Amino acid sequence: MKSDKLIDPVTRDLWQVIAAAEEVPIGAVETTLLLDTPIALTRDDEGQPVVWLRTVEEAGEEIDADEIVERLPVLVRYGYIWTSLGNPPADIFPIPEYAEPDRKNMSCGSIGVNVSAPRAVENFLDMGHFPYVHTDILGTEPHTEVKEYDVEVSEERDEVLATRCRFFQPRAALSATEGIEVEYVYRVPHPFCSVLYKSCPEDESRRDVIAIFLQPMTQDRCRAHLLQSMVDSVSTITELRRFQQTIFGQDKPILENQMPRRLPLDPRAETPIRADKSAIAYRRWLSRKGIAYGVIPQAG
Ligand SMILES: [Fe+2]
Repeated sequence: MKSDKLIDPVTRDLWQVIAAAEEVPIGAVETTLLLDTPIALTRDDEGQPVVWLRTVEEAGEEIDADEIVERLPVLVRYGYIWTSLGNPPADIFPIPEYAEPDRKNMSCGSIGVNVSAPRAVENFLDMGHFPYVHTDILGTEPHTEVKEYDVEVSEERDEVLATRCRFFQPRAALSATEGIEVEYVYRVPHPFCSVLYKSCPEDESRRDVIAIFLQPMTQDRCRAHLLQSMVDSVSTITELRRFQQTIFGQDKPILENQMPRRLPLDPRAETPIRADKSAIAYRRWLSRKGIAYGVIPQAG
């Protein structure tokens, strides 16, 4: 099969997000593309997802999930369905906050983007674009400086971690009533996923959690699945969703203008600036892991 040559073994064995669990119909087929591979999915009578390699099934077709014999591995985590084309680990990365009972957890849509998954991760890590792309929400002039922050790769958890990221934001969250200097922590616990912790306007001791899970459809096309886990006793889920969708709607055209669409891993490919410190760490980490899908691997 053609796709076998495209997919490196590390990517093949990862868990990959494919859909928001609640959006998959019970007893009907949904179709999608993962790593150039057509996928079909449904939910059985108990609501449990069933995922398989799509052959002749069409979206919307009725199906009895019990008749699907050859199934791909399935996990439901953080409101999303995850599968794998290879042999995935027992579980995916933890987001312990998700289980806190007073949080508002929600999926915020699955949005197709004409860019590679790693490019979308990198944009998610970048604070430098806030004043220009998310003007008067996540940034505003003259507060354009990306202050010094720390980046490390946690060996224990095998993830990139950026801490002490600070940025002045006019409207950091829906619950924000005034501009504040917010503090961000970024995790990249999966080659195609990032989790962001940011100051919570409602409770200084806690952090709002926003995650982006990218479904690599092809080398240069992905679907962005967004998760919010918020400490906000006032806003409704619909309002919180809309806020995040507005932000991502501003990112989408920027992402689709990225050239090349795949992420170059050669450190000399694009000029680094300080704001790119996390991007450099992310690219190195992908390189070291041997990720070849959605990137332009380093020569030699
Ligand atoms: Fe953005």
